[in-house]
Amino acid sequence: MNLILMGLPGAGKGTQAERITIKYSLPHISTGDMFRQAIKDGTALGKQAKAFMDKGDLVPDEVTIGIVRERLVKEDCKSGFLLDGFPRTVQQAEALDTIMAERGGKIDAVLYIDVDPSKLMKRLTGRRICSKCGATYHLSFNPPKQTGICDKCGGELKQRKDDSEATVHERLQVNTKQQQPLIAFYRDKRVLKTINGDQPIDQVFQNVSEILEAFPGQSVKNDRQA
Ligand code: AP5
Ligand code: MG
Ligand code: ZN
Repeated sequence: MNLILMGLPGAGKGTQAERITIKYSLPHISTGDMFRQAIKDGTALGKQAKAFMDKGDLVPDEVTIGIVRERLVKEDCKSGFLLDGFPRTVQQAEALDTIMAERGGKIDAVLYIDVDPSKLMKRLTGRRICSKCGATYHLSFNPPKQTGICDKCGGELKQRKDDSEATVHERLQVNTKQQQPLIAFYRDKRVLKTINGDQPIDQVFQNVSEILEAFPGQSVKNDRQA
């Protein structure tokens, strides 16, 4: 399956991606994670992306499209992938169509996690990320068993630099504006699946799973059980 996870900042793309990629054995391709890694490594790409990310703006399309194009031709994407946070503009979506035409295959579903924007500030300012394995937590909604420590690997939990109130405000504005035409783009192609993201994390994942089980090849497990 070739999947896209779409949703405003804090909608739960990364949280659901952690679960989807394990259950369906898909590589997780998050452009945000790729940029953060490049910044950490001090590469040219990182230097280019940092200024935009720190302000809460989008990284220019040509830069973002370039890294996705390079990533999607890798061996591990041959039998499917999960894109998280890409495309984010119609120009990126059109470029993705071109990439798919070149490499073969199509986008099977766009999972749009819909959350009331008024909930997102609290989600983002309370988010904590494991500095070792990248697992996502929330101080109130998904707290670790031990304060500041990752349940999975014992790593230290940190706050993302762009999760300050001022930057979140900008990110929400920028992304809301870009997301509307993108929703229309994928609705027209009849691949958009809207999921209510205003539910507990496990319930959102349950709804995502129900959608994905309906795809050919994914229902085998259920057939055997029947
Ligand atoms: P990116 O890293 O993709 O950030 P984002 O889109 O702002 O989304 P987030 O990662 O903040 O939110 P999420 O939806 O993953 O939520 P999460 O699961 O963590 O991009 C960062 C930057 O990189 C961009 O601003 C831009 O500059 C650049 N960039 C990236 N892609 C780009 C592109 N295509 N084009 C141009 N620029 C690009 O959850 C959030 C919190 O809520 C967590 O604490 C979690 O525990 C909690 N939570 C999750 N689900 C629930 C739930 N159901 N109920 C309660 N709490 C929940
Ligand atoms: Mg994320
Ligand atoms: Zn960890």
